[in-house]
Parts: sequence; C-alpha cells; structure tokens
Amino acid sequence: KKPAGAPDATLAKPVTKVGIVGAGLMASQFATLFVRRLQVPVVITDVDQARVEKGLDSVRGELQELADKGRIGPDEHNRLIGLLRGTTDRREFADCDWVIEAVFEELEVKQQVFRDIEQIVADDCILATNTSGLSIPDMASVLEHPNRLVGFHFFNPVAVMPLIEVVKTGTTDDTTLATAMRTAKALKKTAIITRDTPGFVVNRILAKVLGEAMRAVDTGTPFEVVDNALDDLGMPMSPFELLELVGLKVGAHVLDTNHAAFPDRFYRSENLHRLADYGKLFDRDGKGKIKGFDKQARKIV
Ligand code: 3HC
Repeated sequence: KKPAGAPDATLAKPVTKVGIVGAGLMASQFATLFVRRLQVPVVITDVDQARVEKGLDSVRGELQELADKGRIGPDEHNRLIGLLRGTTDRREFADCDWVIEAVFEELEVKQQVFRDIEQIVADDCILATNTSGLSIPDMASVLEHPNRLVGFHFFNPVAVMPLIEVVKTGTTDDTTLATAMRTAKALKKTAIITRDTPGFVVNRILAKVLGEAMRAVDTGTPFEVVDNALDDLGMPMSPFELLELVGLKVGAHVLDTNHAAFPDRFYRSENLHRLADYGKLFDRDGKGKIKGFDKQARKIV
C-alpha cells in the first residue's frame, strides 16, 4: 500500500554510496543500518579523528553483535566492514548520492554543514537531516538546490524502532521524497510522510508525555512515583528512562522546540536543563527500576 502523500515510487533514484555527517550516538546507529541494509559504501565523518574512530568502533561493535547473534554470516560481516569508511575529510562525499547529517541540534551548525557539503556533492545528491525538530525550511534556505533536502528522522534505538519520519518541506521535490521513501523501505523501516511542523508527529506527542512527567516532578511528585507508575502501567519505557535513552540534552531540546512554538501547550522544564548539564537523572538496578537517586542529582532538583 502506498503511504499517504507518497509520490510515484518510480521517481526514486538508486542510492549507491552514503555519506554521514557526525559520528555520534544516532549517526553510528544508522550507519550500521545503512551499510547492512543497502550494502553500499558508507562514509562517516566528524570534526576530528578521535570522534570518527569512536563512531567506527561503535558501528563495528554493532556489526559484531549481529554476527555473534548469527544474523549475518562471517562473509557478510567482512564485506560490511569493508564497505565502511571513516574520515574527517568531507571531500569523500563527492561521489555520494545520499548524505545525511546528525550533528549537534543547532540550526546554524546544520546550515553550515549543508553549505559546505553542497560545494562538494553533485547537484542531484539527496541531502537529508535527522533533526529532532529544528525547522528544515530554515536549513533549505541556505541551499542552492533546496529541492533535494528532506527530513529523515530516526528513533532510538535505531536498530529496533520500526519508524522513520520523512519530512517534506515546501521545496522538497518528488524525486527526493520518492528516494527517501524507497531508502526507508530498503532499511526495512516503516516511513510516514510528515509536514515540517515543530516536533513533526512523534516528538510533538512525546513532548507532551515527557513534559507532563517533568512538570509533575517539578511541582513536587517524587521522581520514582512518576517513573514507576508509568513503568507499572506497562509502557515499554517510563518517561525518564526514555529521556535517558535519547539523551537528556536532546530530550530537553525536544521540549524546548515544542514550547517555543506553542508556549501555552507545552511545558519547558528548567530543572531538566540542570539535570542535563549534570548528566544523569538517577541510578537504576539491572531491571530498569530506580534503585536510588544520585545524591547530587537530588540536590540539584
Ligand atoms: N540499543 C540497541 N539495541 C537495543 C537497545 C538499545 N538501547 N535496547 C534494546 N535493544 C535491542 C536488544 O538488543 C534486542 O535485540 P535482539 O532482538 O536483536 O536481541 C531488542 O532490542 C529487544 O531488547 P529487549 O528484550 O531488552 O527489549 P525490551 O522489551 O526491553 O524493549 C525497547 C526495548 C524496544 C527499546 C523498548 O523499551 C521500547 O520500545 N522503548 C521505547 C523506545 C522509544 O520510544 N524510542 C523513541 C524515542 S524518541 C526518539 O528517539 C526521537 C528523538 O528525536 C528524540
């Protein structure tokens, strides 16, 4: 069945080489997916070699895990390792037909990345952003060919979560959109097409849940009451576990994006920012239950 809003699938272009800007948590997870599912060369880049190596180690670790679980055989494992490259030199993107960025969530940083990349890649190379909610038209505004920019938003953990939000802006053309849809399918994900609205579809809804959980804590309900209640309700993860999974800074940013767009509807938690600076919410036992608060975190609250 054709997903709602999807253009003619025959417009899609083949993806034969993938470039990834940023080698952090999300980028390395989807690098694994691209190399495994598309079986094409994948180049990871970052600002320094240490970050590149860390990203490569993480991808190699995930591929090793797949091999250990018998999901890929030894020959395929070796082939995939051979398809993977890491460098600080973005000129390696010159012959890519798909480049996706997952750098720091700051508009100016992403705009600069796209400006630089557009000087390197061919005019028809698709450019994608994994932003959690920054305005994609604002990114497109710095491009010579804004028609080739699309949102391609993964969810954590990338290997497990089935969804990708494909975000269409006013300038995204049908070839770009069709290629994004086909790429998502090749990655064995379910894609939905969303408009470029703050938080898109999923983060808009998640921001409500996470924001209300933080509001409850900020107005005096103990952390463990909120956390355990939703865990015991049977949610796959409690709101605070989810915040830890996506990263506290990313989580705080998602709340802020929605609050900035709709201040009367979304909560912004100063407390979450303080905790994000501190680095963690609380200590858990092996089963995910809170076993005790970090003393300093409790003091910060
Ligand atoms: N990283 C990688 N793989 C993981 C993982 C992680 N953090 N956690 C679990 N997995 C894998 C396991 O290895 C296992 O893989 P296998 O089947 O190949 O062995 C599989 O997931 C299932 O693991 P578990 O049996 O431990 O699974 P659980 O039942 O505990 O479920 C979960 C784990 C699927 C992560 C579940 O807790 C869940 O669905 N949580 C909600 C996650 C969610 O909502 N993510 C969206 C966050 S929002 C976001 O990312 C957007 C961004 O913009 C902020």
